[in-house]
Amino acid sequence: MSERVQIAIDGHSSTGKSTLAKALAKYLNILYLDSGAMYRAVALYQMEHNLSDQDLINRLEQLEVSFNAKNEICLNGKMVENEIRKMEVSNRVSGVAQIPEVRKKLVELQQKVPQSVVMDGRDIGTVVFPKAQLKLFMTASPEIRAERRYNELRSKGEEVSLKEVLENIKTRDFQDENRTTDPLRVAEDAVYFDNSDLSLDEQLHKAIQLYHERA
Ligand code: CDP
Repeated sequence: MSERVQIAIDGHSSTGKSTLAKALAKYLNILYLDSGAMYRAVALYQMEHNLSDQDLINRLEQLEVSFNAKNEICLNGKMVENEIRKMEVSNRVSGVAQIPEVRKKLVELQQKVPQSVVMDGRDIGTVVFPKAQLKLFMTASPEIRAERRYNELRSKGEEVSLKEVLENIKTRDFQDENRTTDPLRVAEDAVYFDNSDLSLDEQLHKAIQLYHERA
């Protein structure tokens, strides 16, 4: 593969973007990168240090967000993969993702990735990689998404209710779609992908087919 491949998977919360992105990256033997984990890490930092938005902005330069060799998210060198998935972080992350300075820092880091990559998030096809060879926009009904996320969190032992998860999903969708900087939008050349009734195998099959058609 000589040309650098960029695949953008955007969409609503808990649509299984990362599951499909990982499977596609594995199939193509390229890197997978979870941009949402980067926003979650910044939200975790703000929470742990009890910072106002302005304090966070002032400290952004000292804040290092990276991925280790196992592709796990690190905050100032410390692996925080488990902490960032907690409900407390989910409740805060879309607020942090509205801060233009935060977006600027993370978008720059994402654009610096030198190799072929499948990246999932909210603004990958519209802002980070506008020239991506394949752009998918994933969605499913809020109830289906909430149930998936609820089962995931419960299997990790987190005490949450289905109602709480559904509310978080709806609030984040609203915040992500209505923020001023880089809101969640369907890119003009994106393929709309409702996976409410598709198994992972079916989704992967469809994504591979689309990739071969477009790349
Ligand atoms: O996995 P889930 O759908 O819960 O969300 P995520 O991908 O982990 O992203 C968490 C939050 O980060 C989103 O709700 C957005 O507010 C924000 N985000 C963003 O603004 N831009 C991105 N490229 C990725 C995530």
